[in-house]
Amino acid sequence: MDFKPMQYVYEAVGNPTAYTLLLLHGTGGDERDLLPLAGSLGKGFNILSLRGNVQEHGMPRFFRRLGMGVFDEEDVHFRTHEMVHFLKELATKEGFDINKLIAVGYSNGANIAGAVLILYPELLAGALLFRPMQPLGGIEDSFETPRQQPVFMSAGTQDGTVDPAATAAYATLLNSNGFKVSTFDIPAGHNLVQRDITLAAEWMKDNFQ
Ligand code: MLT
Repeated sequence: MDFKPMQYVYEAVGNPTAYTLLLLHGTGGDERDLLPLAGSLGKGFNILSLRGNVQEHGMPRFFRRLGMGVFDEEDVHFRTHEMVHFLKELATKEGFDINKLIAVGYSNGANIAGAVLILYPELLAGALLFRPMQPLGGIEDSFETPRQQPVFMSAGTQDGTVDPAATAAYATLLNSNGFKVSTFDIPAGHNLVQRDITLAAEWMKDNFQ
């Protein structure tokens, strides 16, 4: 397959058993966007942040879409395989534990993280999905994880981009396939607010410290 490498920043914490936060930005962002957020999620984590390989009118994304909220599912598959291939190679190069990745994704970044949960259910140690949408349809019982990894999801109750009811259905789907999903409804729109960060930091403490 014609996989391309990805732009990234990696900051090692100097502990071979550390978890690594895998930061995945939203549409139009880049690998620097979520670095401040990562600092609020606790200490002692390696930080790996990627830039999406797709461009939409000059804006980086992790996979193509056909319209607002309508995903090119063939590209979702391809880009998910491309990213996982890259992560596996990078784990060897940079020396982090591939089994200790915690995805931290916002919007489009949350959606590629969700595609990893579905297509590689055992890969991630956990995931924080801010304003996520289910990235693939028709997958009800086609995946399963025995690892029971924890997943954090926050939805904005006034989000004009993502329907909170669809987020609830997505959480149910992940739960029924073995993930332990905690969902949080936040009185906000599509943008991240302080409450997302506070709840995510508490969830990290409960699950990874
Ligand atoms: C997407 O993946 O397209 C979104 O969740 C919406 C966005 O990134 O703007």
